[in-house]
Amino acid sequence: MQIAIIGLGNAGLPLAAVVADSGIDVVGVDINEERCNRINRGDNPIPEEVGLDDLIKIHGGKRLVATAKFEDAKGCKTFIVIVPVFVDAGYNPDFSIMKSALLSLGKILKKGDLVVLETTFPPGTTEEMAESLLTQSSGLSKSDFFLAYSPERIMTGYSISRLREFPKVIGGRDEESGIVAYQAYKKFINNLHLVSSARVAEMIKVMEGCYRDVNIALANELFKICQDLGVDFMEARDKANHQFCHIHLPSTGVGGHCIPVYPWFLIKEMEKREHFSNCRLLRTSREVNDEMILYWAEKILLQCLKINKPLSSIKICIKGITFRAGVKEFYHSRNLALARMLVEKGLDAYVWDPLMSEQDVQNKGLRYLEPGKADLLFDPFNLEFEYSN
Ligand SMILES: NC(=O)c1ccc[n+]([C@@H]2O[C@H](COP(=O)([O-])OP(=O)(O)OC[C@H]3O[C@@H](n4cnc5c(N)ncnc54)[C@H](O)[C@@H]3O)[C@@H](O)[C@H]2O)c1
Repeated sequence: MQIAIIGLGNAGLPLAAVVADSGIDVVGVDINEERCNRINRGDNPIPEEVGLDDLIKIHGGKRLVATAKFEDAKGCKTFIVIVPVFVDAGYNPDFSIMKSALLSLGKILKKGDLVVLETTFPPGTTEEMAESLLTQSSGLSKSDFFLAYSPERIMTGYSISRLREFPKVIGGRDEESGIVAYQAYKKFINNLHLVSSARVAEMIKVMEGCYRDVNIALANELFKICQDLGVDFMEARDKANHQFCHIHLPSTGVGGHCIPVYPWFLIKEMEKREHFSNCRLLRTSREVNDEMILYWAEKILLQCLKINKPLSSIKICIKGITFRAGVKEFYHSRNLALARMLVEKGLDAYVWDPLMSEQDVQNKGLRYLEPGKADLLFDPFNLEFEYSN
């Protein structure tokens, strides 16, 4: 058995490594030639991913061969596609990368092959867009190949253990596709669950993101209310949480490629159908979370008033601008947006981040400052203030 994995990014590479480690030959296809060469040399391009170094050293260039040419994968019978789908400036899904990958894949697709998509996108995409692009570029009819969907449910940094332990779902465009895909995935995924359709599998992943976003918005709102009422949020939360209640943690908002993006897949779909009232909570939660940086900017200003210096000369330092602690990623980072907002408002704001050099900070258009040199520090991951002078 030989499997092709299209897209060797943060999600595709750990998957390719786990598949190779289960004894299956993998052809990894990625348009980034430099990344392919690195992988084939046994050099892991994602060092922060726990356990990946060892797997790439063992399998890179051997059981896992990376290539920029789709033709190198034409001997495979199973193709897994995991390239990104983003949202554009108007929050509509941007399928351009996915479309290009599927059109290239269609050119090497044969009768009887299996295609499984893993990227998160709006429910219905596998049955509609993916099927149509694959038939169009392969010249095959839809009954000539099997098509299924299995969402990637990893968490950056812990992808290998998530792939090995976390429940994974898979669903076919039709019943037969579901069964064929389930049997193929069972060879390298232990905790696998077949669901009734690709559409259900797609919804499972989007639902999870929406659940997180709405519950974080709720936590943020309750936190603000607690502050107004003079209630210790953490104490109240601790005792409020039990088997049927799980209040999340407050934050500066929600960043990254997943949670702030997935609700838009449903919001835009409902808006397209003019079913606006079906997605009011999702839209409001997005707004509540994105506006948290305004709340924290105001808090920072209030803290500045406690310092006996003119406002314009108070050095404010944001301790961390990645979207999440411990991961050097900035997509939709609210901490980065907060730092930029303070600068735009004319405050003397700086950044220090344990994962970034001075140059890295400057490359983001911001100024670096050692925490000890600031008058006021704000730690956005723990929502704590410190005064250093
Ligand atoms: N990273 C995560 O933590 C995570 C978690 C859950 C789900 N996902 C899903 O995985 C998807 C991919 O995310 P990622 O983090 O791997 O993205 P990424 O940007 O890290 O990697 C994408 C890879 O695809 C390659 N690529 C682009 N166009 C291509 C093409 N036409 N043919 C072949 N390769 C191509 C790029 O060179 C890149 O290496 C996301 O959109 C999301 O739906 C990611």
